[in-house]
Amino acid sequence: MTPHALNPSDRVLIVGATGFVGRRLIPELVKKNVKLRLLVRDLARAAPLLVKGADIEVVQGDLVANAGLAEALRGIHTVYYLVHSMGGKTLFKNEEYAEKDRQAAKNFMAAADASSLQRVIYLGGLGETGDDLSEHLRSRAEIAKILSSGKPSATVLRSAVIIGAGGASYEMLRYLVERLPIMITPKWVETRIQPIAIQDVLAYLVGCLLTPETAGQEFDIGGDEIFTYVEMMQKYAEVRGLAKRFIIRVPVLTPMLSAYWVDLVTPIPSGIAHPLIEGLRNEVVCKDNRIDQYVHITKTSFKDSVLTAFSEETDGPGVTGF
Ligand SMILES: NC(=O)c1ccc[n+]([C@@H]2O[C@H](COP(=O)([O-])OP(=O)(O)OC[C@H]3O[C@@H](n4cnc5c(N)ncnc54)[C@H](OP(=O)(O)O)[C@@H]3O)[C@@H](O)[C@H]2O)c1
Repeated sequence: MTPHALNPSDRVLIVGATGFVGRRLIPELVKKNVKLRLLVRDLARAAPLLVKGADIEVVQGDLVANAGLAEALRGIHTVYYLVHSMGGKTLFKNEEYAEKDRQAAKNFMAAADASSLQRVIYLGGLGETGDDLSEHLRSRAEIAKILSSGKPSATVLRSAVIIGAGGASYEMLRYLVERLPIMITPKWVETRIQPIAIQDVLAYLVGCLLTPETAGQEFDIGGDEIFTYVEMMQKYAEVRGLAKRFIIRVPVLTPMLSAYWVDLVTPIPSGIAHPLIEGLRNEVVCKDNRIDQYVHITKTSFKDSVLTAFSEETDGPGVTGF
């Protein structure tokens, strides 16, 4: 289906509206006068998301439980799909969250196909396909496939770590560098990564909505700088005015041991941290910059993205935000 361009009377649904990306997307869309509906699991958590004077509806629902979807999708032009199920205290129970995410996406697509929905915009993860891909990144890619398989036209954006206060991967970076002047790390510190500022992710998400030509396409999005993880940690320390970190690479350190160690040093729930750590072995760098042909943004430097993120933390350096 070729989607029609968004009209002022059209409404856009955000699933995952309470999340790190979803809650920041709301004011950006309000600035563009987009009428919104939010699907939330817990209605009590919707109140802080509402913007005074904006046209925002709220529907209670749960994608895994298949609840509230028909109501949420009624009359919707585009859905932002910003959901994932990682969390809690688990130990590499990858299949558990992957299965939940698969079920959520399938339930969503069944309801979407039965509705008049025109477009889905999904933010997933960078990372090549292949046998070595971590369960987390494999699961993100699987969701992209499911969301692209239905009647609505899907736009898939793929990004590496997003730099922004409250983002799980960014918070892991922050806690580790803020708290540890000396780190013993496994080989993955040499893997390359192309981080992106949350402001830039939001600009691409909004830009895709306002550019119907992006429908039916997949784009890699990233900042202007590519680092190894060790370089990114040193750069973070430099931006924050911290002393250079001593990073000692130990080839025998397994992802499992690194994960236990992150549990000790950071407050990130293990159900989020462990799958992310497992994914650190996979290079997450944009294959191309085709997105620039459609959505023009001024990219935020890594330095500015860290400074902004840090200024938005309410709990000071290395104190629990989770
Ligand atoms: N954060 C990053 O650095 C990063 C990097 C690359 C890509 N991404 C992608 O960006 C997207 C959003 O990530 P995020 O960091 O914003 O995640 P997040 O903060 O963990 O938010 C996840 C959202 O999904 C919702 N959700 C979970 N299970 C649900 C269910 N069964 N039914 C309805 N809603 C459900 C959560 O609702 P509750 O509040 O009720 O739990 C929450 O709003 C994901 O696809 C992720 O892969 C993120």
